Amino acid sequence: MAKKKLNIGMVGYGFMGRAHSNAFSQVSNFFQLQHEPVLKAACARDQGKLKAFADQWGYESTESDWRKLVERKDIDVIDIAASNDMHLEIAIAAAEAGKIVMCEKPLGRNAAESAKMVAAVEKAKVPNMVWYNYRRVPAVTLAKQLIDEGKLGKIFHYRAKFLQDWTISADLPQGGQGLWRLDVNVAGSGVTGDLLAHCIDTAMWLNGGIDKVIGLTETFIKEREHNLTGKKEPVGIDDASLFLARFSNGSLANFEATRYARGHKALYTLEINGEKASIMWDLHDLHRLQYFDHRDEGRTRGWRSIHVTDGDHPYMAKWWVPGLQIGYEHSFIHQVADFIEGLETGKPAAPTFREAMATDVVTDAVLKSARTGQWENISA
Ligand SMILES: NC(=O)c1ccc[n+]([C@@H]2O[C@H](COP(=O)([O-])OP(=O)(O)OC[C@H]3O[C@@H](n4cnc5c(N)ncnc54)[C@H](O)[C@@H]3O)[C@@H](O)[C@H]2O)c1
Repeated sequence: MAKKKLNIGMVGYGFMGRAHSNAFSQVSNFFQLQHEPVLKAACARDQGKLKAFADQWGYESTESDWRKLVERKDIDVIDIAASNDMHLEIAIAAAEAGKIVMCEKPLGRNAAESAKMVAAVEKAKVPNMVWYNYRRVPAVTLAKQLIDEGKLGKIFHYRAKFLQDWTISADLPQGGQGLWRLDVNVAGSGVTGDLLAHCIDTAMWLNGGIDKVIGLTETFIKEREHNLTGKKEPVGIDDASLFLARFSNGSLANFEATRYARGHKALYTLEINGEKASIMWDLHDLHRLQYFDHRDEGRTRGWRSIHVTDGDHPYMAKWWVPGLQIGYEHSFIHQVADFIEGLETGKPAAPTFREAMATDVVTDAVLKSARTGQWENISA
């Protein structure tokens, strides 16, 4: 049977523009779905770079203005892979135009922006999803299955870190292409919205809602030259962000993200300790899940390093043969596959805009708490 076309309009050709384009291109080769994504149009402002991107990935056309893209009748999905300052306006316009909307994380620069985006997609009743891709790393999905089956028992602790080291130099400018993450007006926040958002999304997915947080942030370099003005300007982002949390299930947590951990490039780790078992996961070894089960016979009890590559592991039957691992890019392919399946079954893939807004509520609370020094309650 011929597959139905799902015409993609991609905004942004950077890191995520590539990750998403790859996912849309690959998904039909590995997942049996009724819809097939078509790379219909790519949009960005720099026409030279956009043309090169469109040719490389096989986009049929380009647009220099995202408004034109949103107006096009031949586009079904607007995929927002642009910097955080663009999410709000594009998502609302896309929803009003009746498009399916996919958006990169964090959904908004703060929860107030996210709430407007949630209202727009819900009013227009258009399918929507935020790209929290780490949920779809098979080892992380396996962790979710084990927790939901009760294998860990009552959960006492959740621990997550996301460590990088790329902004330590005081000579690094802020703002403009490639460095928008250092400009608070574009990014919304620093590592809290950029890195901790991933940790919080995974944590609430695995361990449920967060009741309260207390945070601590630091901006180590106070002024940086701004690429767009050429002047030294104050740095408004948090370079490092740590917080303690209490989850609704009574477990205690600590989270840390920084771009000042010399030697670490993208070390996202998480650990969960339950009454009966514990799990650990590490992005640098993403196809493994470490598992300790206290119910094992004492003499051979120990941490198991599960190579999550067998046919009965999440998503893995779709790939090669048992024992052959997959990588980072596959998490995006899985997310597209689940999203399309959600369109076909009517059971939306998570996280929807509304579900992803919960992360922005927590990151806002962490930043507020870091300013006030007080615990912040998370409202439902
Ligand atoms: N899910 C993840 O793991 C993950 C990883 C990296 C980034 N992200 C998120 O993805 C988004 C993009 O990040 P990135 O790393 O790809 O950034 P990037 O700097 O590599 O690319 C940003 C893109 O936005 C485009 N853009 C900016 N303003 C635009 C406008 N007015 N019209 C059209 N295009 C515009 C730029 O042309 C560029 O192609 C951000 O929201 C970021 O937080 C998510």
